[in-house]
Amino acid sequence: MLNKGPFNAAITAVGHYFPERIISNKYFEEYLDTSDEWIKTRTGIIERRRLDKDKPTSFMAVKAIEMLLKNRGIGIEEIDLIIVGTVTPDMIYPSTACVIQKEMGAKNAWGFDILAACSGFLFSLMTAVQFVQCGSHKKVIVVGADKMSAISNMEDRNTCILFGDAAGAVLLEPTEDKSYGVVDAILKIDGEGGKNLHQLGGGSLNPASHETVEKRMHYVYQDGKSVFKDAVKGMADVSYDIMVNNNLSSEQISFLVPHQANLRIITACAERMGISMDKVMVNINKYGNTTSGTIPTCISEYWHEGKLKKGDYIVLSSFGAGYTWGSILVRWAY
Ligand code: COA
Repeated sequence: MLNKGPFNAAITAVGHYFPERIISNKYFEEYLDTSDEWIKTRTGIIERRRLDKDKPTSFMAVKAIEMLLKNRGIGIEEIDLIIVGTVTPDMIYPSTACVIQKEMGAKNAWGFDILAACSGFLFSLMTAVQFVQCGSHKKVIVVGADKMSAISNMEDRNTCILFGDAAGAVLLEPTEDKSYGVVDAILKIDGEGGKNLHQLGGGSLNPASHETVEKRMHYVYQDGKSVFKDAVKGMADVSYDIMVNNNLSSEQISFLVPHQANLRIITACAERMGISMDKVMVNINKYGNTTSGTIPTCISEYWHEGKLKKGDYIVLSSFGAGYTWGSILVRWAY
């Protein structure tokens, strides 16, 4: 899928942000017909973070980018392009990329948002790769950020226990050494999946009205069972295919970085690839499903813990609303 230009696109810095407020499973036990035990065993989630009501998604994205810039030792004025994967933009428009650009004074950057739900980070990363590979852009920030508490129905036990708020960011730069950076990608969509996972209110089909609010159409709707079945197959297939297409064995993969929607989906994906769980990045236990945030926050946390090293092959895989899904193979460059 990757049409190589003069350069490879390498990840050269990472950053993440989680709000301080912790919401434990016990919190939901107090007002919903659910239990810590059910949530833990069915999803793998123990707690998640929640951003203050008056703070938007861009607040978390800015914090993640600040960490990234500090790690790389550069200023925001060096950034050419900001791409934000999110389903919870600060508002319908202007884009969250524009808000971030203004907040951070990124005077040399342009940017835009990409809507691919839980695949938002992977779709944004693949888009960014095109600008870096051809040599037209030297420093591109890719953000995955979502304030899921803004669109979760806190009375619906089927969904509200699943989600958390977070942001992660990576910096992409060109490298002439073609053995590092983003190596390959498989990305897919299937609109048939739209019926199983959506937020119907607020768009041009169902503009915000008293009726859409009363019918709770501004919240996440999910047919969990159907999505679970489709996610296991979709994510496991592309993860396996990208490994095999690139003539890699499971031993040669240092980490699988799966979207964090359910620990049982993650385990199934690892099993299909023949990868043991110690080589799977997991943070769902601490943060729940943070949608576009899961993959970049995992990478950033593991990098900060010193677990990633130059030359590592990592497989990033996601599945989400749309349906959108895919895998990206990266050879770690620093
Ligand atoms: N606490 C207690 N019981 C709950 C519950 C909760 N928080 N949520 C659902 N239940 C109940 C259901 O009502 C159902 O009860 P019933 O049998 O009386 O109808 C029962 O538990 C089983 O529901 P089911 O939907 O089969 O549970 P599950 O094992 O599939 O787990 C999810 C539900 C949502 C955790 C799981 O389906 C899932 O992870 N789906 C995929 C998520 C995903 O990948 N999303 C894509 C990207 S966001």
